[in-house]
Amino acid sequence: MSFPIAVLASSRGSNLAALIDAKEAGKLPVEIVLVASDKAEAPALRNAEAHGIRTFALNPKTFPTRREFDEALFARVAESGAKHVVLAGFMRILDANVVEQWLGRIINIHPSLLPKYRGLHTHRRAIAARDAEHGASVHFVTAELDGGPVIAQTRIPIHPHDDEDALAARLLPEEHRLLVACVDAIARGRVELRDGVVHCDGKALHRPLGLDENGTLDAA
Ligand code: GRF
Repeated sequence: MSFPIAVLASSRGSNLAALIDAKEAGKLPVEIVLVASDKAEAPALRNAEAHGIRTFALNPKTFPTRREFDEALFARVAESGAKHVVLAGFMRILDANVVEQWLGRIINIHPSLLPKYRGLHTHRRAIAARDAEHGASVHFVTAELDGGPVIAQTRIPIHPHDDEDALAARLLPEEHRLLVACVDAIARGRVELRDGVVHCDGKALHRPLGLDENGTLDAA
């Protein structure tokens, strides 16, 4: 029986598409049991539906507080049978209580080399800081925005004439490879959060994993 996951996405859904493609190609041992969004018009939902995946959207404005919205959202996620949740472009901060209940079972992909550039406009900020490298990180979600323990990162050089859009476009396919590799490692039981520390193959990680040329996580 493959590993049941839910994906939360607010918009474009290219990371979700990468997970669906890998799964359909027989390269990812998961069942995407649910795709949910805070935006009814999110293209991610339409793509999921086209692949026969259950979807729903909840409008945060119809809930009095963030906590009530997140509790309703995660109640639906729990009902779906998902064991793990992937935030793939889910543009909301999660309530601390809800995160606590799901600790070690939610991951997020963020387009920066964390701990650099939490939050928005990461590509722009990396260029403005004249960084030589940029990248993406997949991390376990804690109550701190983009602050949870990092599982793995992918790195790309920043070229002298890169603008925000060019850099984002070059990073995106690497994000997809990274997310697929991390979900694969979690589904296979290779990666887990134990006592707040990421473990891979039973060993505590002292720095984030990388990707090898086959797109597999690598303790390089
Ligand atoms: C990605 O850059 C992801 O890292 C960030 O939001 C973006 C979502 O893109 N968290 P998509 O909706 O998966 O195409």
